[in-house]
Amino acid sequence: MVLVLPLFVRQVVPGSRLYGTAKTPARLDLDSCTLAGMSGLHQIDTETGLLAERISLWATRAEGCLDRVLPAATRMPTRLHEAMRYAALNGGKRIRPMFVYATGECLGVDIEKLDAPATAIELIHAFSLVHDDLPAMDNDDLRRGQPTVHRKFDEATAILAADALQPLAFHVLANCTELCASEIQQLVALIAQACGSLGMTGGQAIDLASEGKELTVAELAEMHGLKTGALIRAAVMSSCCLVDADEQHLSAMDQFSRDIGLAFQIRDDILDVDGQTHVIGKPAGSDEALNKATWPSLFGIDESLRRCNRLFESAMQQLSLFGSDAEPLRLLASYVVERKR
Ligand code: IPE
Ligand code: IPE
Ligand code: MG
Ligand code: MG
Ligand code: MG
Repeated sequence: MVLVLPLFVRQVVPGSRLYGTAKTPARLDLDSCTLAGMSGLHQIDTETGLLAERISLWATRAEGCLDRVLPAATRMPTRLHEAMRYAALNGGKRIRPMFVYATGECLGVDIEKLDAPATAIELIHAFSLVHDDLPAMDNDDLRRGQPTVHRKFDEATAILAADALQPLAFHVLANCTELCASEIQQLVALIAQACGSLGMTGGQAIDLASEGKELTVAELAEMHGLKTGALIRAAVMSSCCLVDADEQHLSAMDQFSRDIGLAFQIRDDILDVDGQTHVIGKPAGSDEALNKATWPSLFGIDESLRRCNRLFESAMQQLSLFGSDAEPLRLLASYVVERKR
């Protein structure tokens, strides 16, 4: 299957650490990853196009890792394994793995060491989506343009598939031969915290408890920082665990990941309002129907867009410390705030 990632590229302003205004929509073909096959790519400069192509190769690499670690669908219990593979391989953008690889490249980490955290975080993300779509949560029928796992299979299978995706993530980390014991220990601690009640799962609990309520900005930011930001932060900070970075660099990466994690959810909330179901691949208007506390519900679309942009700019400032090594992170961050799905 060909996955097309619509990428709105921000052009680099020479001499500036910030990016200029969004210009040309480029499309990345995540499977073939050839410049020739990418519609519209001739409209952006070659350097950015090549970088975009390299980033898209990381998504392909992550898919290969997922494919290898997931049990074959023919293995007993087959229905469970089929559902796990459907949940994890059914067309995600792979943004979290791309953040692992882009941060790792920025800090000079060997790519082989990045596969396990990239795969583990994507498995946890896949499990979180299966639960998020269940009738007891957001009750959505469509994900990545296809029936959600509980619609394609059944509710019990969806719950079990998510149950099994989560420990598989830690299995991948624990059994990684590219990492030493202390690196594995740090990654397990970081990713477990990001996934649990003080991270994504806690944020999801607050999200459900906030339906029909008007939150303060601080409460909304806290909830979204947990339910979405925590895993994106874990993606960036996983790579930081694998180098001997000083406090200043660590804290810049930490703030970058927090800014971009929040911007990611603001964009998601905006797309739920002004995106189209066939483009975003999930039911548009789902948040309003469930009376969710979202950025557009609190501020409207225009102010939400402004906040998203401010977070992007703050994120870019954090990266100034890393110079040109952070170019892939800049392009990815720009995709997060401009994306159409
Ligand atoms: C959707 O995440 C869920 C949120 C945290 C908002 P993505 O937009 O990364 O979903 P996929 O993996 O690309 O489908
Ligand atoms: C879910 O947020 C975040 C997760 C932890 C899965 P949403 O409920 O807004 O995600 P979508 O819009 O269904 O992808
Ligand atoms: Mg939700
Ligand atoms: Mg949802
Ligand atoms: Mg949403």
